[in-house]
Amino acid sequence: MKHDPEFDIVVWGATGFTGRLAVEKLATRAQSLGDLRWAIGGRNKAKLEALRAGLGSAAADIPIITGDSHDVASMEALAARTSVVCSTVGPYALYGSELVGACVRAGTHYCDISAEPHWIRKMMDAYEAEAAETGARIVHACGMDSIPSDVGVHYLQQRAEQLYGKPCSRVKMRVTEMQGGFSGGTAASLLHGTEAGRTDPSIGQAMTEPYYLAPEGHRQGPDEPDNMRSTKVEYDEDVQAWTKPFFMGPMNSKIVRRTNALLGYPYGEDFSYNEARVVADGLSGRIKAKAEALGYVAFLSAVASPPTRSLLKKYVLPGSGEGPDQETRESGQWKVVLIGKTDDGTTVRTFVGGEGDPATDSTSRMLVESALCLAQDADKIPVGGGSWTPAAAMGDLLLDRLTTYAGMSFEFGPSSTDAGRS
Ligand SMILES: NC(=O)c1ccc[n+]([C@@H]2O[C@H](COP(=O)([O-])OP(=O)(O)OC[C@H]3O[C@@H](n4cnc5c(N)ncnc54)[C@H](OP(=O)(O)O)[C@@H]3O)[C@@H](O)[C@H]2O)c1
Repeated sequence: MKHDPEFDIVVWGATGFTGRLAVEKLATRAQSLGDLRWAIGGRNKAKLEALRAGLGSAAADIPIITGDSHDVASMEALAARTSVVCSTVGPYALYGSELVGACVRAGTHYCDISAEPHWIRKMMDAYEAEAAETGARIVHACGMDSIPSDVGVHYLQQRAEQLYGKPCSRVKMRVTEMQGGFSGGTAASLLHGTEAGRTDPSIGQAMTEPYYLAPEGHRQGPDEPDNMRSTKVEYDEDVQAWTKPFFMGPMNSKIVRRTNALLGYPYGEDFSYNEARVVADGLSGRIKAKAEALGYVAFLSAVASPPTRSLLKKYVLPGSGEGPDQETRESGQWKVVLIGKTDDGTTVRTFVGGEGDPATDSTSRMLVESALCLAQDADKIPVGGGSWTPAAAMGDLLLDRLTTYAGMSFEFGPSSTDAGRS
């Protein structure tokens, strides 16, 4: 590991939609931390200066680092100057690889909000072994994909162990509330995945194979392949409502399964996990769930077809730097429930929730706390260098930060047993 770099954290991609939010959050956090040494980075100096000017006097002296994501030398210079890089430059498959490589070689910790499993696997395959040698902790998926799922399951399983002496062999996450919008980078990632998927079969494979992100030799288990175009709706007795597929489910599930394998199967080797979105009860709930599921698949078809894709790009989807307005960001909120079952029929629940628009405001808070955790809790993090998930690397340390500073809550709910049901 290198000694005493100039910065604790560099926010790379500070001028993007999520990058700006992350910078604002970190500027606020830095005021109470006092001695945090941080900088903002991107490719456009004038934009970075304008961003810094808008942060107020407390951040007036924040250093600016410029470079281009494709320029290996500038990525290496960036990685050499800091303990942690927090990157919001995406689509990561287009702009992220050189930076991950530079961080790995420099022994610099790294976190991002990528939700592109094909690229995450590419980074794991290329750099995991070297990161173990240099000490760089590489942590992808530190946003709405996939912290609520990953840290939520970690929390639920710990409580199950404490109360019943065993983990839940089956856990399902049900999204009960999710209000908000999405930003240009998310749209760009979807468009890029769709376009590149026409010639690169690994992109489709990454979405469907349930254990695609598990370490080599651990890519099997009880869960079925994911179907990104499923319109299946189901009545879920545990939430007493109709559910539809949750579009983030395939990504989140792969991260949760990776955590289990990375940590030596604390959730069990037969651990099974899935996610769905709760719609409503009754016949109207069933009709609504089906209509929404069909609507999402129609949207994916429109994205896949070149003529409608260009119309969506031109008239509907946000561009780079664009996203929901302040009111949407601040009034947004989300809630999920994790329902776990032990082999002997005990059901346990955990409620996870967050303030702010999930894909932008809440995501930027999660990312900032992940970066702070990597920087400030470096000596307490129980794992060394490597390619980690949020829960596998940071577990309880991150959970404490999310509840204290990121507007998130994790609550253990009432348990029940099959025998106790009427
Ligand atoms: N996991 C989640 O929950 C979640 C939520 C939101 C977003 N995301 C992901 O986060 C990423 C960013 O999203 P966003 O909406 O914030 O994107 P955005 O607004 O388009 O910002 C992209 C950033 O990348 C920079 N950039 C582009 N090309 C570059 C290059 N060659 N060198 C250096 N910088 C470059 C842009 O710089 P300029 O400002 O100079 O153009 C900008 O700062 C996307 O991949 C998105 O999918 C994930």
